[in-house]
Amino acid sequence: MSHAAPRGLRRLAFGGDYNPEQWPEEVWREDVALMREAGVTMVSVGIFSWARLEPREGSLDFGWLDRLLDLLHAGGIRVDLGTPTVVPPAWFYRAHPEALPVSREGVTYEFGSRGAICHSSPAYQEAAARITRALAERYGDHPALAMWHVHNEYGVPVLECYCATSAAHFRRWLAERHGTLEALNDAWGTTFWGQAYGDWEEIQPPRATPTVANPAQRLDFARFASDSALANFRRERDLLRELSPGVPVTTNFMVSPTQCDSVDYWAWGGEVDLVTNDHYLVAEEDRNHVNLAMAADLSRSVGGGRPWLLLEHSTSAVNWQPRGIAKAPGEMARNSLAHVARGSDGAMFFQWRASRFGAEKFHSAMLPHAGTDSRIWREVVELGADLGRLADVRGTRTVADVAVAWDWQSWWAQKLEWRPSQDLDTRERAEAYYAALFDRHLTVDFAHPDAAGSAGHPLVVVPALYLATAAAGAALSRYVADGGTLLVSYFSGIVDEHDAVHPGPHPGALREVLGLRVEEFQPLRAGQEVRIDGPDGARLRGDVWAETLLLDGAEPVWRYADGPAAGGPAVTRHAYGRGAAWYVSTRLDRADLDPVLAAAAADAGLASRDDLPHDVEVVRRTGETGTFVFVINHTGAEAKVPLASPGTELLTGTRADARLAVPAGAVRVVRLDD
Ligand code: GLA
Repeated sequence: MSHAAPRGLRRLAFGGDYNPEQWPEEVWREDVALMREAGVTMVSVGIFSWARLEPREGSLDFGWLDRLLDLLHAGGIRVDLGTPTVVPPAWFYRAHPEALPVSREGVTYEFGSRGAICHSSPAYQEAAARITRALAERYGDHPALAMWHVHNEYGVPVLECYCATSAAHFRRWLAERHGTLEALNDAWGTTFWGQAYGDWEEIQPPRATPTVANPAQRLDFARFASDSALANFRRERDLLRELSPGVPVTTNFMVSPTQCDSVDYWAWGGEVDLVTNDHYLVAEEDRNHVNLAMAADLSRSVGGGRPWLLLEHSTSAVNWQPRGIAKAPGEMARNSLAHVARGSDGAMFFQWRASRFGAEKFHSAMLPHAGTDSRIWREVVELGADLGRLADVRGTRTVADVAVAWDWQSWWAQKLEWRPSQDLDTRERAEAYYAALFDRHLTVDFAHPDAAGSAGHPLVVVPALYLATAAAGAALSRYVADGGTLLVSYFSGIVDEHDAVHPGPHPGALREVLGLRVEEFQPLRAGQEVRIDGPDGARLRGDVWAETLLLDGAEPVWRYADGPAAGGPAVTRHAYGRGAAWYVSTRLDRADLDPVLAAAAADAGLASRDDLPHDVEVVRRTGETGTFVFVINHTGAEAKVPLASPGTELLTGTRADARLAVPAGAVRVVRLDD
């Protein structure tokens, strides 16, 4: 995978979505002057501009965009230019109502919002190609152009479409995937409930059914939906590469599992020249900086560890959560620099200037409704200056300690109906294990399960991997046999890629490496807890889930003291080859996970970071320009952090010795001397 940086940008990217079509042209001059004052280096333009660029079919109006790009160029602001294909104009839908997406229940989503797209529609694909071509021909070598921004957040607000055109497309996709009808019937287990197909034309998307639909069919449809959008991205990307060579092409991802669940970003990460991500805090969540860190690590990971770019986050409140909680003083800078620490080559926002009208007028912006005499504006200007001081961080790579296996497809499968407990929750487990790792100051690379053991991490954590192919199971076994340490949570390795249970007792794909069998799942009642007793009298509490385990080589480390599996093993360790595989068969909360994680981390030879204060992030980026230690103090007290060697603190321009003091709520970035 190549790494492409925005063309002509010598500093970290700082700026935001800029929607000048919402403002009279005299405001644009003020915008550029203020952007310069704030140290803005790049803005994203034109993402929602199709109706302005092509007010009537075939009649193009580029005059305003010519003037805007020239103005930005004169101001030294680079441009991330959008293809507006997420918002086809009203005239398009009048001519092609069949391009509107249809929900599973048969509801047609109408024009009047955004993202009303059937990704299988030939009319949409042709119109999108025409406007993309026109933009590329006109601006492909414009001196302000730094990067192409295709579409906007594929996957939200809708990805799947269940219309007749999509159904025909789905059948073609299935024929390619399964080859023969016989193979499809086999993969989908259609002998169950008499669902066998005798002709391709009989197959439909999994529209609303009287009761639970075939889970393998649903899983294939989810894959199909992600692939269809990806095919549309590729069409635009290839046109842009042809007509605007040398300019990187991206589309803004939403990798956070709290924000988008419909796109398989492992398949997408290698298709963009530069991974870009949008991230919004769940404002009311306790310690929401932990999920921010997780999203940032995931963004870096889907790009194979390359630097990436945070293309959108918010200066303060968003308008689409139940309560628009404002960020506290300093929080925006901590958020921004936390993304940079974890590999983003900049921090950009939605949006530059707060809108006066439309659905997002109560969303914060770099330039808020309050204007420049505001805390937000002053903090924006400060952040611009801080990012200016960090220019040398560009291009360096974040160093991680641990790999965490994550798979969108497994998540899709686990979320389907009629699982052994409605409390099983892939995302919740991923977040809990991530938080436990965060609290041990271990930096995480996410990995596809097939590759989780291949990058040399001493510890691989598998928080929830209901669907694990035989290949993934074999790869994880090899990793342990070769000396790795594996930590697996319950309800992992259960089914294959068709949602069929692996042969033999659970967990089929991981049974051998874990050295155990699940005799029986023991889902717990709502609110029920089980006690588990461990070494040295350590006592933990589980809920949601327990299991009756039979050990085939694994040793019990913690045992159930009560509940349906009382007396049996709860947490086990299996010495396998040159490594060890740990298994946790109940749901432990973040705090109770800690001793288990500590044991596995010690097994993996990871040094303890107990000398680092709680809720103080310490993350390293390293590369040709040096090694940079980011310290982000999320607490209300000064923190003292030991450094491997002295260096220069870049935000204050002072020397940093072996013990760095970081004021409450502040961020420090030290370039180590060696
Ligand atoms: C998304 C979109 C933006 C805007 C923001 C608001 O990230 O890409 O256009 O709607 O959300 O938070």
